[in-house]
Amino acid sequence: MNRRPARRMARSALIAVVLGALALTTACTSRAEEAAASSTGFPAHATIGVALPDKTSENFAIAGRLFTQGLAAEGYSPDVQYAPATNTVPEQQNQIESMITNGAKVIIIGAKDGRQLSTQLADAKKAGAVVIAYDRLILNTRDLDYYVAYDNERVGELQGQALLDGMKAKNPGRSSYNIELFAGSPDDNNSSVFFGGAMKVLQPKIDDGTLHVVSGQTAFKQVTTQGWLAQNAQSRMDTLLAGFYTSVQLDGVLSPNDTLARAILQSVSTAGKPYPIVTGQDSEADSVKSIMAGIQYSTINKDTRKLVAEAIRMVDELQQGKKVDVNDTTSYDNGMKLVPTFLLPPQLVTRENAAQSYQNDPILEPLTRR
Ligand code: BGC
Repeated sequence: MNRRPARRMARSALIAVVLGALALTTACTSRAEEAAASSTGFPAHATIGVALPDKTSENFAIAGRLFTQGLAAEGYSPDVQYAPATNTVPEQQNQIESMITNGAKVIIIGAKDGRQLSTQLADAKKAGAVVIAYDRLILNTRDLDYYVAYDNERVGELQGQALLDGMKAKNPGRSSYNIELFAGSPDDNNSSVFFGGAMKVLQPKIDDGTLHVVSGQTAFKQVTTQGWLAQNAQSRMDTLLAGFYTSVQLDGVLSPNDTLARAILQSVSTAGKPYPIVTGQDSEADSVKSIMAGIQYSTINKDTRKLVAEAIRMVDELQQGKKVDVNDTTSYDNGMKLVPTFLLPPQLVTRENAAQSYQNDPILEPLTRR
């Protein structure tokens, strides 16, 4: 055990008091962060708000159930709300405001639009509530306390690499491939992060001629999918196939998630064309089935149970007035501050490693039995 002499303890305690007083008088701008970091805790039955976006993928539907059960099991009063599909941003803003009014001590937010919550976060801060961004970073505010997510840039890198590897494995000996690119909704900060990660891998291969984006649509704003909606991806794929692939073979499609991957594959199938290599994300049950059937090529395992557990662990630490454990304090600049972050590692899943990747998942594991 590390016991320091009492005199040194007394001296360091004094220094801490002096530094604390100095910080109080001088460091106005960092007061909010310090208050969050050295919270004195709150009652164990406190209200915890969870504001999730509209259910554009299975993971958010699963997260809502897990938050409700997990927070209640720890004795908190959970207030879990989803933004509805229409009027989504103002509705989510209202939901967060009512959580603040209802005295929530922590508000966990999966943002619909991470650029439009500054007023709500400022109100939360004034009311003394701690705000945790869940899965999607919240931008342009100093009032965000923590971020908990899978490493989303890594998700993109894994998708880009899977697209390349899948096409090579399917077409041994070929040296060039025709591809198309899809990204998520432009209002979700993650969309550009996934796309940026994938392009780190793909851009050099486009530049050296290995990959040919036949439509020429390579800029983020040309390839986004408004609202993460399947029908938007499907109709863009329909247009691409009709416009560029009547006499050319499509070898691969970068898809940012499983919902869009299945829409893209649906479009290809309706057009009567052979399936290209298509990536995905989220490990949605229908996509895992498709991967096992040899149709969709890959997905990403971002186990929602682990992400929700880390968010609840942060709530517990705050409740007990403990320091919140984070593992990244340098990567996530939201435009106003570096946000203390807890990141989890995503895992690429193909037919080859699906059984092993989902071995602890009672819903997905049975789908991988061949
Ligand atoms: C999440 C993805 C999800 C997408 C659409 C993203 O922010 O990280 O897992 O597929 O939103 O809901």
